[in-house]
This record gives sequence, C-alpha cells and structure tokens, in this order.
Amino acid sequence: MSKLKNLLSLQMSTYTAPLWLMLLFFSLTAQTTPTPTLEPSPTPRPVDLTCDLLELQQKQAELAVALGSFDSDAESNPGAALDNLFKVGAAYQELALSCGYIPADIATRFIGTDVERILSTLGEVFGDPINGQVLYNGELGCSGCHSADTNVAPPTEGTYTRILDERLHDPLLPDYTPEHYLIESIVLPGNYVVEGYTNVMPNNFSERLTLQDLADLIAYLESQDGASPE
Ligand code: HEC
Repeated sequence: MSKLKNLLSLQMSTYTAPLWLMLLFFSLTAQTTPTPTLEPSPTPRPVDLTCDLLELQQKQAELAVALGSFDSDAESNPGAALDNLFKVGAAYQELALSCGYIPADIATRFIGTDVERILSTLGEVFGDPINGQVLYNGELGCSGCHSADTNVAPPTEGTYTRILDERLHDPLLPDYTPEHYLIESIVLPGNYVVEGYTNVMPNNFSERLTLQDLADLIAYLESQDGASPE
C-alpha cells in the first residue's frame, strides 16, 4: 500500500513540476505588452473597391517610396524616421478607407466630412433614437439652438416632415435622400443654409461625433415626423 502511495506521489511530482514551470512561463509572458500584428481584424470585410484600381496602386506605390529610405533614416535620425513612419501609416489607413475598406471599429470612429463615405457606412450601425435624443438635448447642445422658442434655428419638431415636404423638393438638393440631407446638415452645415436663417451652426461636429453618435442623432431626427410648431 505504501509502495503504491510512493509511486503515486512520485508520478504526481514528475507531472506537476512541468505544469508549474508552464504556469510560471505563461504568467511571465502575459505581462509583456502584446506586439500589434498585421493580422486581419476579427470581422474582415470583403468589400469591393470603391475607387479606381490603378489610382489605388499608384498611391500605394507613392507611399511605399516615402518609406524607401527608412533603414538609413532610422539610423541617422530616428525621431524623424518614426514621425515619417507614423504619418505614412495614417496615410495608408486613409487610402484603404477611401477605397471602401470598413474597419471593425467603424462605429467608434469620428465621421469626418466625406458625406458619400458616411452614407456608405451608416448601414453598419443601428441608430438608437433614445440615445440620439439624449445627445441632442445634452452634451452636444443641439436643442439649445433648435428649440421652438429661440428662432435661432429650425425647430426640432417636424424636422423630418420638413425634409420630406420642403427641403428635398429644392432644386439645390437634387437626388438627396433624407439621410443624405441630415448628414450634410450636421457635418457640413454651411453647404446648404435653410432660408430665413444664418449659418451659425458649429462646423466641427465631424470631429466630435462617432458614426454611432451620428446614427443615433439621425434616428432621433427621423422620429420628428409631426408638424412644425406654429
Ligand atoms: C449654435 C446653434 C446651433 C447648434 C448648436 C446646432 N445647430 Fe443645427 N442648425 C442651426 C441653424 C442656424 C440652422 C439653419 C441654417 C443652416 O441650414 O445651416 C441649422 C440647421 C440644422 C438642420 C437642418 C434643419 C432643417 O430644417 O432643414 C439640422 C438637421 C440640424 N441643424 C441638426 C443639428 C444637430 C444634430 C445639432 C447638434 C449635433 C445641431 N444642429 C446643433 C443652428 C445650430
């Protein structure tokens, strides 16, 4: 009996020692910062190119040239080399986005002012009108100008009805959909100034709103389908 016990404990120790070593190894490696890899995002998007193939290839080649002297630059002037690396990296991302690439974190990215691009990505997120109302009345301060009693801006109430019945019939806005009009009104408010008002709406929402914020605001404004207040 005691022989068996000895044998068992011997076996345990020969198996547990490597296990402890492995645990130690994992706990040590887990503490090191993971190196970013160029692996595809968890939801790689098989999108068609929305730009000209030749142009894309040409621009890619130009960016590659900008990194052509990287090895020697990194030796002689590391700061400038890293600065260049960072900027070219951003330019590469912009190039991919301009050709239709949809990154996995699209919902939390700032929208910018490219209305076509925003339109083509809006379907990626679900707009929540309640959250839109919270943003509109709260931190973004939209309602401060758009409340019916100020006359500074068109009133919130009836916005969607006015878009359908009036704005989209304006020859200055040919082939606009309600979403197109709403996006442009928010990111480029100076492009079309509603008659009777002056262009005082802040023009920096493109840098402050994520795609999710914008989708929520649009869902809220599309729920304003009653009559305009008297
Ligand atoms: C400082 C005042 C001000 C703020 C803040 C403001 N707006 Fe405006 N907005 C205006 C004015 C003035 C107009 C009309 C002139 C124009 O078309 O640019 C307008 C027009 C619009 C229109 C077109 C309305 C229509 O009847 O055609 C929309 C949509 C809109 N704003 C949405 C927003 C949203 C969303 C926010 C917040 C993220 C916001 N605005 C914040 C002043 C403001």
